[in-house]
Amino acid sequence: MAELTAHPSEGLQGTAAVPGDKSISHRALLLSGLAVGESRIEGLLEGEDVLRSAAAMRAMGAEIERGPEGVWHVWGRGLGGLVEPDDVLDLGNSGTGARLLMGVIAGHGIQAVLTGDASLRVRPMKRVAEPLERMGARILTREGGTMPLTVIGSADPLPIRYRLPVASAQVKSAVMLAGLSAPGETIVEEPAPTRDHTERMLRHFGAAVAVEDDSEDAVRRITLCGQPELTGGDIRVPADPSSAAFPLVAALVAPGSRVRLPRIGTNPLRTGLLTTLEEMGASIRYENRGEEGGETVADLVAEAGPLQGVEVPAERAPSMIDEYPILAVAAAVAEGRTVMRGLGELRVKESDRLAAVAQGLAACGVAVEEGPDFLVVEGAGGRPPGGGSIASRLDHRIAMAFLVLGLASEKPVTVDDSTPIDTSFPSFQSLMGELGAGLGGLQGR
Ligand code: S3P
Repeated sequence: MAELTAHPSEGLQGTAAVPGDKSISHRALLLSGLAVGESRIEGLLEGEDVLRSAAAMRAMGAEIERGPEGVWHVWGRGLGGLVEPDDVLDLGNSGTGARLLMGVIAGHGIQAVLTGDASLRVRPMKRVAEPLERMGARILTREGGTMPLTVIGSADPLPIRYRLPVASAQVKSAVMLAGLSAPGETIVEEPAPTRDHTERMLRHFGAAVAVEDDSEDAVRRITLCGQPELTGGDIRVPADPSSAAFPLVAALVAPGSRVRLPRIGTNPLRTGLLTTLEEMGASIRYENRGEEGGETVADLVAEAGPLQGVEVPAERAPSMIDEYPILAVAAAVAEGRTVMRGLGELRVKESDRLAAVAQGLAACGVAVEEGPDFLVVEGAGGRPPGGGSIASRLDHRIAMAFLVLGLASEKPVTVDDSTPIDTSFPSFQSLMGELGAGLGGLQGR
């Protein structure tokens, strides 16, 4: 446990180098481990979650090395070429690592036991196990569909057509990863578009993936042609928009701030927070727009200014699913009421984020209403009281969101344990400190 306190701050200034995208980093390691030949990955997130995925792929025979200058090299086994791991695969805190690897293993004739930390061991895994079993894998979970679990993969999985019961990129990706080893077409239909990094990267490695919006059936349909030739290649991982969200909102809510965030991923299926903040009146400029490895990027420049409460539509949830804790912080500072709907999935993230956000805001003197799948925040129209002690609940985003709240409050905010931040944003404390934020024992500017 490492307690950390955020003190009221103002005038955050500078350029913040946000680390690589977590979702894309996991996929880069998994797909390059399944490809033939060498892949070179630049900008890989070296957070604990991603390092667990690297260790799991190594345990199944992929050769993975970190070169000088932080460039990672992967020599893949080729599709179907993974070997059975000698030991349990421990994915730590990472739902993405666990669920995507379940898909990879399901499409191989090997068996593996997967576990994780106390947070991951209570997260739902049936949603992934169910379609993978239809494809021919066997998955033995604990009572209630949780980890530790055993995946008994199939060397000859069946291609399926699967309609996702929840809009989850993790479930979609698990089915597609197992479908790589299946003959014919594996089809996933999603009720609402979710992040498409797997689709984009599969194409980058040479697979055929078709995407169509079927308005009659109200689904997005993704069709993968099985048994492709996956060939290793170069990947440049954009900076993570979900991590950038913390210094970005800090700059918006700490008076007198102006912060530049270079090369942030701007995949439209990830930018719901930016849309919402702009609707709240935030000053966010996009500069140097470009493309890297099939993903769009831009420098974001955020400047502090007044924010207004808004209604966030439920349909926007998949494009900002990890950003509600930090949006709730912006809402606490905004003038008026912010209503966020369609948040049921927040209950099964690294923590029950709906409860964590509601209880944390209340502890900081913010008026908040928590519904089964919605949240209403009454903004203070300036600095909220603050002064709360927050349990981070093994959840990196809860820890970071409340530290940002502390910068924008009247009184400091303390989180009981900042170590979960290392799962996605190991440089958070130093980066925020360089911008002038008062974290730790320090007083802000
Ligand atoms: C992720 C998808 C999201 C997100 C998670 C990363 C991914 O989960 O919350 O942090 O990389 O596919 P769901 O797809 O289950 O909503």
